[in-house]
Amino acid sequence: AALIEEINQHTATTAPEVEAFRIKYLGSKNILKPLMGEMRNIPNEEKRAFGQLVNKAKQTAQDKFDALQAATAEQAGAVAGTGLDLTAPAEALPLGSRHPIALTMRRIISIFGRIGFTVAEGPEIEDDWHNFSAMNTPEDHPARDMQDTFYVGENMPAGPKNTDMLLRTHTSSVQARTMENEPPPIRIIAPGRVYRNETISARSHAQFHQVEGLYVAEKVSFADMKATLLHFAREMYGDQTKIRLRPSYFPFTEPSAEMDIWWGLETEHDYRITKGTGWLEILGCGMVDPQVLINCGIDPEIYSGYAFGMGIERQAMLLYNITDIRLMFENDVRFLRQFSSVL
Ligand code: PHE
Repeated sequence: AALIEEINQHTATTAPEVEAFRIKYLGSKNILKPLMGEMRNIPNEEKRAFGQLVNKAKQTAQDKFDALQAATAEQAGAVAGTGLDLTAPAEALPLGSRHPIALTMRRIISIFGRIGFTVAEGPEIEDDWHNFSAMNTPEDHPARDMQDTFYVGENMPAGPKNTDMLLRTHTSSVQARTMENEPPPIRIIAPGRVYRNETISARSHAQFHQVEGLYVAEKVSFADMKATLLHFAREMYGDQTKIRLRPSYFPFTEPSAEMDIWWGLETEHDYRITKGTGWLEILGCGMVDPQVLINCGIDPEIYSGYAFGMGIERQAMLLYNITDIRLMFENDVRFLRQFSSVL
């Protein structure tokens, strides 16, 4: 009877303790077995009661064991009776990765975000007005040839505002939309996809990405633009980064410039990507042409501004040593997976 009590009081909790319990009371050399051997020493009239007690002890041990086992298994995560073990190691989830263009764009957005630029957007299927005419590039303007355009069917008869639809050739269309819709001060960047009818090669593609920037307020100067762009270049490429502004031409800025960053000429990749000069052009910029302000309803006597537009693919290629732009749009997982550790 004391033994039955002992079995009932048993407090095995861990799996090894439960196993020890099993060996002691139920194993092939369990301590109940010798009791059966005692039987012959028991007086006849007590044999029956003794046998019952021993059987009861056995049964108690079995019941206790079942209970202990269920309890510890549950504790370990197994759901009793289901064959499920919630603590079993899970199969690895196939994690995705960010696209190098997205990674590059996020960095650019965050750099400008920290100095007060907010993100603006516009449609990829754009009308002629916002892509060209408002940006001081009327129909007969030779600068239209700078960007081979995908038109998506002619629309309305040309009124004061040509409404032909096209795939935007640059994110500068978002400049026009923003200035039409909100009064200065305006400080925005506009990241997005653009399209040009170009032959696809390792260096150029018919679709690519830009980040536009626009700052319009009172007394905005070329020096403001230069300082902002230098700050950007150093945040993006390191605080020793040198920049150079070369005079250029865009219909919507005056004066206009192109900005190069000094990339150096240390590796084969540097040679290829900088065409052997060490300088790499990353953006076009300039002071917003007063005519553009007028086209968008802003008084150039009060306000001035600067704008810039940068290509993303080339910067991504620089940052991640990518030698062929076409890789960006093929979505080969062997390419994409290489960015899985990049935040
Ligand atoms: N839109 C120009 C391009 O795509 C870049 C640019 C933007 C230049 C803003 C000046 C100002 O080449």
